[in-house]
Amino acid sequence: MAVLVTFATKHGGTAGIAERIADRLRAGGLDVAVQPVKQVRDVDAYDAVVLGSALYMFHWMGAARSFAARNHDALSRKPLWLFSSGPIEAVDKEGRNQLEVSGPREIDTLLRLHPRDHQVFFGVWSRTYKPSGFMERFVHMMPAARAAFPDADLRDWPRIEAWADGIATEVRALPR
Ligand SMILES: Cc1cc2nc3c(=O)[nH]c(=O)nc-3n(C[C@H](O)[C@H](O)[C@H](O)COP(=O)(O)O)c2cc1C
Repeated sequence: MAVLVTFATKHGGTAGIAERIADRLRAGGLDVAVQPVKQVRDVDAYDAVVLGSALYMFHWMGAARSFAARNHDALSRKPLWLFSSGPIEAVDKEGRNQLEVSGPREIDTLLRLHPRDHQVFFGVWSRTYKPSGFMERFVHMMPAARAAFPDADLRDWPRIEAWADGIATEVRALPR
């Protein structure tokens, strides 16, 4: 069974999650391609798809949203799993669980692809990243904003691996 793991990332944190998912699927006996969304040529070449994006300002990245829209029909026909990678703190200022409130705002559109699951995973952030885009330049320049973005790598590898292992089990059970 061939599985596509595809992702949109700005600074590489989501790519790391996608690579780890791909490793676990391979360990589960599957034939896996892992690629940024912009490099994917033919979704129909795969039996199942895992699609993920980093979250910025409560949204999936544009490249992931366009990929989902462009391939809507093919993705809807396939076993599909979605993930979002984002929160770099466990709770927000109001004490709300960040995994529940961080996005993506386009979840209703994404659910129209009929994914088997969607998970939000904690992300990673470093002040050493080269700022990209208005918000990041703002964060970089303003001490108060920088304080809201502490260095953190909260990627929860056991949870990510367990999720990937569940996907491997489901894909192996698909009719050939
Ligand atoms: C300007 C800015 C906005 C962000 N907005 C969100 C957000 O709305 N929700 C969220 O969960 N994480 C948010 N994050 C955290 C990123 O999603 C996190 O750093 C993620 O791991 C980045 O992934 P990447 O390295 O693949 O680009 C934001 C980070 C920055 C710098």
